[in-house]
Amino acid sequence: MTLAIVSALPEELAAIDAALHTTRTESLAGRQWRFGRLGDEEVVLCLAGVGKVAAATTTALLLDRFAVRSLLFTGVAGGLGPGVAVGDVVVGREFLQHDMDASPLFPRWEVPLTGRSRFGADAPWADRLAAGARRVLAQPHAALAGFGIVQAPALHQGLILSGDQFIASGAVCRRLQAELPDALAVEMEGAAIAQVCADFDRPFAVLRTISDRADDQAHVDFPRFLREVAAPYSRDIVMATLQG
Ligand code: ADE
Repeated sequence: MTLAIVSALPEELAAIDAALHTTRTESLAGRQWRFGRLGDEEVVLCLAGVGKVAAATTTALLLDRFAVRSLLFTGVAGGLGPGVAVGDVVVGREFLQHDMDASPLFPRWEVPLTGRSRFGADAPWADRLAAGARRVLAQPHAALAGFGIVQAPALHQGLILSGDQFIASGAVCRRLQAELPDALAVEMEGAAIAQVCADFDRPFAVLRTISDRADDQAHVDFPRFLREVAAPYSRDIVMATLQG
């Protein structure tokens, strides 16, 4: 059965897309679903679009209509945890929607009627992804120097926050850090994918390269960072994971 590889933005999937031996393409729900082989693996690539609804639609279609066996999401995120620096990589182990708040009917962050605020990634998948990331990060990455990053990139594993906001404010960042001190990174899709995969009881894993610190500091050139760092990381780590 097919493995799904999904990103939000075209730039995040570009390098994997270039490595795909496409066998067929389908159009559905405003999305292109590209089927083919990546190494020895039968895969379908799809751009989800940005945000939780786009991610949930994509995930539900992949799991139901296209009956994929599991899902790998790859893209960028803002670093939240201390020591989670631009150029580092985060493998998500737990996911929480930081903008979910149905209080006082339900506790803050709890997805109503599920009794849960945190949804876990598939542990064996996340282990494989982390092992792939470790192998790739051990290689020198010349592109990082072009962004003034001199330290070796680190791998982090743990809680990722998702919400329908691009966080670019020191105040919001500090609030999230204070409220959810174990959060490593913030993005806009992971927790939605986690919830849909829990509904379908299907495994998934999420890989995020840190593109910014989610604060109001001067940001790196985002499109160039995606092209030169995040997209090649995604390709190399996904390939290393599939081969490992
Ligand atoms: N993806 C990359 N950086 C992000 C940020 N600061 N907030 C939300 N999603 C992101």
